[in-house]
Amino acid sequence: MADGLKVLVTGAAGQIAYSLLYSIANGDVFGKDKSITLVMLDIAPMAEALKGVVMELQDCALPSLKNVISTTDVKEAFTDIDFAILVGAMPRRQGMERKDLLKANAKIFVEQGQALEKYAKKTVKVLVVGNPANTNCLIALTCAPSIPKTNFTCLTRLDQNRAQSQIASRLGVSNDSVSNMIIWGNHSSTQFPDAAHASAVVGGSTANAVEAVKDDAWLNGDFISTVQKRGGAVIAARKLSSAMSAAKAICDHVRDWYFGTKGDKWTSMGIYSNGSHYGLPENIVYSVPVRIAPGGEYTVVEGLKISDFARSKMDATAQELLEERNAAWDFLPT
Ligand SMILES: NC(=O)c1ccc[n+]([C@@H]2O[C@H](COP(=O)([O-])OP(=O)(O)OC[C@H]3O[C@@H](n4cnc5c(N)ncnc54)[C@H](O)[C@@H]3O)[C@@H](O)[C@H]2O)c1
Ligand SMILES: *[C@@H]1O[C@H](CO)[C@@H](O)[C@H](O)[C@H]1NC(C)=O
Ligand SMILES: *[C@@H]1O[C@H](CO)[C@@H](O)[C@H](O)[C@H]1NC(C)=O
Ligand SMILES: *[C@@H]1O[C@H](CO)[C@@H](O)[C@H](O)[C@H]1NC(C)=O
Ligand SMILES: *[C@@H]1O[C@H](CO)[C@@H](O)[C@H](O)[C@H]1NC(C)=O
Repeated sequence: MADGLKVLVTGAAGQIAYSLLYSIANGDVFGKDKSITLVMLDIAPMAEALKGVVMELQDCALPSLKNVISTTDVKEAFTDIDFAILVGAMPRRQGMERKDLLKANAKIFVEQGQALEKYAKKTVKVLVVGNPANTNCLIALTCAPSIPKTNFTCLTRLDQNRAQSQIASRLGVSNDSVSNMIIWGNHSSTQFPDAAHASAVVGGSTANAVEAVKDDAWLNGDFISTVQKRGGAVIAARKLSSAMSAAKAICDHVRDWYFGTKGDKWTSMGIYSNGSHYGLPENIVYSVPVRIAPGGEYTVVEGLKISDFARSKMDATAQELLEERNAAWDFLPT
């Protein structure tokens, strides 16, 4: 087996982790030939449940899973890790104000950012999933100044997959026939799923998705709102938030970040905005299209033509993120 990887999953006793851990341990993300040390962090009240998950992982008898560590200790969890998948977060409780939720999550991601700084490998790659994912990601990278900002991303792949699937079923083609979908901005109902640059393989030939769909009213209306509100629709139906699809999207995101995107294809992820792409504000974490080289270096896809319609959508979600950042900054250590 090739050299191993040490991978941390937080929120490891939660429902996304329950769908995610098997895929990581089984080699579906980093390849079958990588041995994996899986580190699972949750909070003390979940320690017992976590033990059950460890037993189940052992019972899977997976050849690529070298070691499993379950812990409620942040230092133990973050020590020498290669990858951190930060799923655990404070959920919104009934009657909780937005500000209180932000404060509770800022506390978690300050602590975890500081732990990355102190204990993780400097080459660590960090994916933030726990909501508010973009702002939690910004907080974590701010608290880990010795790790390059480019090593932090947040998940918008679930939104991308949702958008891709909407276009595919509209065209009656398989899901993998649609590519280069873009999600701009926050992982929230102001995100902008942008099909203008996507392509679809229809009847053996590749076409621009907008030209293939031939229905601008749908693309600028129901398509966007369906993707934006999909998370809520799943909760309304299941009484629980998306977990299987979120876990699948995490695998897609991490696999692409590790192995790279293929050819001319790109994918969307929330990255640190340094103020030099598409006129977006500096110092927020914002989802953009990127091409990724094997090993993880990524570049923003440049030069896409942005319509006035797209511009206003991109700015609205940026504005939301700026406001959230400014509110969160009150909770950061000085
Ligand atoms: N970005 C996305 O696309 C996306 C998609 C789906 C869900 N989410 C978010 O992912 C998060 C997890 O969702 P879930 O359905 O698995 O929730 P869940 O409640 O089932 O599990 C969360 C787990 O995190 C743990 N946790 C809380 N604080 C922690 C801390 N400080 N350290 C370690 N663990 C901690 C909890 O104890 C719990 O076991 C939520 O914030 C959810 O909103 C994001
Ligand atoms: C992460 O950090 C290391 C340096 O510590 C660097 O080599 C690597 O390319 C960085 N970037 C990404 C995107 O992983
Ligand atoms: C895309 O995949 C989903 C299941 O993953 C399926 O329900 C849907 O029909 C697929 N779309 C098409 C057009 O095949
Ligand atoms: C950004 O998205 C997250 C995740 O959905 C959400 O919790 C947060 O409230 C959004 N930000 C704003 C300012 O609405
Ligand atoms: C932002 O990052 C890009 C590389 O992604 C770099 O080319 C550019 O110079 C950076 N801009 C600033 C203002 O740092």
